[in-house]
Amino acid sequence: MSNDKYLTFALTKGRLAKQTLELLESIGITCEEMKDKDTRKLIFVNEELKLKFFLSKGPDVPTYVEYGAADIGVVGKDTLMEEGRQVYEVLDLGFGKCRMCVCGPKSAKELLKHHEMIRVCSKYPLIAKDYFYNKKHQTVDIIKLNGSVELGPIVGLGDVIVDIVETGSTLRENGLDVLEEICPLSARMIVNQVSMQMQSKRIHELINQLRNALEEK
Ligand code: PRP
Repeated sequence: MSNDKYLTFALTKGRLAKQTLELLESIGITCEEMKDKDTRKLIFVNEELKLKFFLSKGPDVPTYVEYGAADIGVVGKDTLMEEGRQVYEVLDLGFGKCRMCVCGPKSAKELLKHHEMIRVCSKYPLIAKDYFYNKKHQTVDIIKLNGSVELGPIVGLGDVIVDIVETGSTLRENGLDVLEEICPLSARMIVNQVSMQMQSKRIHELINQLRNALEEK
């Protein structure tokens, strides 16, 4: 797809990329160029293995992969669900574990029981909509925020939030609780649909090696 000779990886900048590179290293795939912390380069090449890597913001990873600018991506399940791109999800990498939850003050629990019209703040409006409309059959008003979503119920913008909970400390420090759990989350490997056919052997070998490495952990 992106280039017949190379397999190109789009990685989510930050902790997920770091953990992905550690996992790849455990199966002998390295990219020395990427280890230079001061570099301003955006794309890194391992000529020997014919691999390319680039880092991008999480929500852009499924976009690069759907369009074939990257053959393979690593991204959180939350982003994958929210972006709804046409890609194959091939492997749960087991790191970046957290939960997508409905959270709020304890008093908001009642509001979730009686199909009341409530306001839901979230960075993930599609996940929130799917959960409330299709699973709970509750009509809600969804307000998109871009971060620090916990502020929503505190300042009176919304009744509850739909957000990621990892350690739970953000909720605790702001007097909020998990009210309902939507789904568990973790990092996933995704593959471009055409690459999966055109580079089938190479990609399947990689998936198998990664799966074995994960099982041995
Ligand atoms: C995420 C998420 C929660 C927090 C959960 O925010 O939106 O706010 O982490 O983690 P915890 O359960 O370990 O406290 P992030 O730090 O990505 O920043 P954001 O609020 O700007 O989205």
